[in-house]
Amino acid sequence: MTLNYQEDFLGIDRFFQEATYHDQTDLNAASSIEVEIYEHECMYPTFAEIARQSGASEVAGMFEAIAREEKEHADLLRELYPQLEIKDSPETAEARRLVGEIEAQMAVVSTDPRGLRRALETALEVESIEATKTYPAFARLAREQGKEEIAQRFDSITASEQRHMQWVQRALDRLVSA
Ligand SMILES: [Fe+2]
Ligand SMILES: [Fe+2]
Repeated sequence: MTLNYQEDFLGIDRFFQEATYHDQTDLNAASSIEVEIYEHECMYPTFAEIARQSGASEVAGMFEAIAREEKEHADLLRELYPQLEIKDSPETAEARRLVGEIEAQMAVVSTDPRGLRRALETALEVESIEATKTYPAFARLAREQGKEEIAQRFDSITASEQRHMQWVQRALDRLVSA
């Protein structure tokens, strides 16, 4: 069976769009934790492996550093969610199902010569969604509920995702201009 490279990644993009950002008023709490854990355990370690196989050890180190911080986000989210009034939605189950699919696709991607560029592009897209939509929306929601302290902790995750976005953008720029 041959897998279509573009379609594989479209699946990933769809996953992150559905899982990290439903819309501003209908956030999916559980699936955001799932996404952070997925990034920590699977996506970034796999991307680091792709980078190493491409001989880009600096980029591999960057992916590993991001992976470590995603774990911190997952822990922080677990702590903050119960303090916000957010309900889970059916998208959570769908997000979990897609995690399994993406894991299977990653094995294919890691042996694709175009893998590193697409890994960086995927990371950029994910980090951008989190930095500009998901976590600012959580912070806004907390402020609407009068929970300023919690809002500030979501602001700190936003700042971390913005840093990831900038690191990945720089690595992508270097790769494209090389
Ligand atoms: Fe994160
Ligand atoms: Fe991130």
